[in-house]
Amino acid sequence: MTIRETALVTGASSGIGAAYADRLARRGFDLILVARDRVRLGELAGRLAGETGVAVEVLPADLGAADDLARVERRLAAEDGPSFLVNNAGIAGGGPIMAADPDRLEAMIRLNVVAVTRLAAAIAPRLARQGRGTIVNIASVTALMPDAFEPVYPATKAYVLSLSEGLDHELRPHGVQVQAVLPGITRTAIWANAGHDIAAFPAAMVMEVDEMVDAALAGLDLGERVTIPSLPEFADWQALVDARLRLRPGLSRSRAAGRYGRNAGRAA
Ligand SMILES: NC(=O)c1ccc[n+]([C@@H]2O[C@H](COP(=O)([O-])OP(=O)(O)OC[C@H]3O[C@@H](n4cnc5c(N)ncnc54)[C@H](OP(=O)(O)O)[C@@H]3O)[C@@H](O)[C@H]2O)c1
Repeated sequence: MTIRETALVTGASSGIGAAYADRLARRGFDLILVARDRVRLGELAGRLAGETGVAVEVLPADLGAADDLARVERRLAAEDGPSFLVNNAGIAGGGPIMAADPDRLEAMIRLNVVAVTRLAAAIAPRLARQGRGTIVNIASVTALMPDAFEPVYPATKAYVLSLSEGLDHELRPHGVQVQAVLPGITRTAIWANAGHDIAAFPAAMVMEVDEMVDAALAGLDLGERVTIPSLPEFADWQALVDARLRLRPGLSRSRAAGRYGRNAGRAA
């Protein structure tokens, strides 16, 4: 008898998370679906169980609320817990900092940053012990363009990208795969929920959600640490990584750089 693998998907009640749930069910994973809307989760669970025969559990939770988050963490940490985490739930918007509601910004940071971190930290030690498993973190291309939108959302996604690269560095030697996915504009409810009209973007910039998730899973199958579904040349991402690496020797030295005056003309 083969033991079935289980994937836990956050934000599974709509958009990208629902598409991951669909694709992972078709790959044979049993599922645990997490979001606040238990009705939508239940409908998706019923459809996927009926269509694919996998076991689908609904775990309603507000990941911005400490008690609910702790409940999901316990499921991830349990010895017989899931081997695959899709850290997807997130919200956007917030507005320009000069007009922002600080409580709304904090809620975004709690979901996009704190919950993502705590869920990864809950599952990682067990996966490392077991020598296998997968963590997919949904970031955004805005991680690479901090000045393109309102400032806080891209900052949360830059955090997710950085966290993922660090987790991959730590966990890969233990047999655990970590992937950051950086979607561009993808047709989901997130835009309307954040007060934006997706129709305002040129159609050539907007990807359908199934295509985005299929590309992200193809990137996972290729073993990519970072997947940017729409980027035509992977070498362009690699060039950025290489440029960052070239900065390394200068990033921490005993003397300030000459242009800052104090050590002008002195050898470093
Ligand atoms: N769509 C894009 O253009 C795009 C681009 C780049 C990155 N992303 C990222 O992709 C991820 C998914 O977004 P999406 O586009 O699929 O948006 P979406 O359709 O609005 O889905 C967001 C999901 O997160 C869940 N969620 C929201 N607040 C939650 C909370 N407090 N606790 C638990 N779940 C919560 C929502 O479910 P409930 O309301 O039922 O809780 C929903 O299932 C996000 O991290 C987003 O930043 C999206």
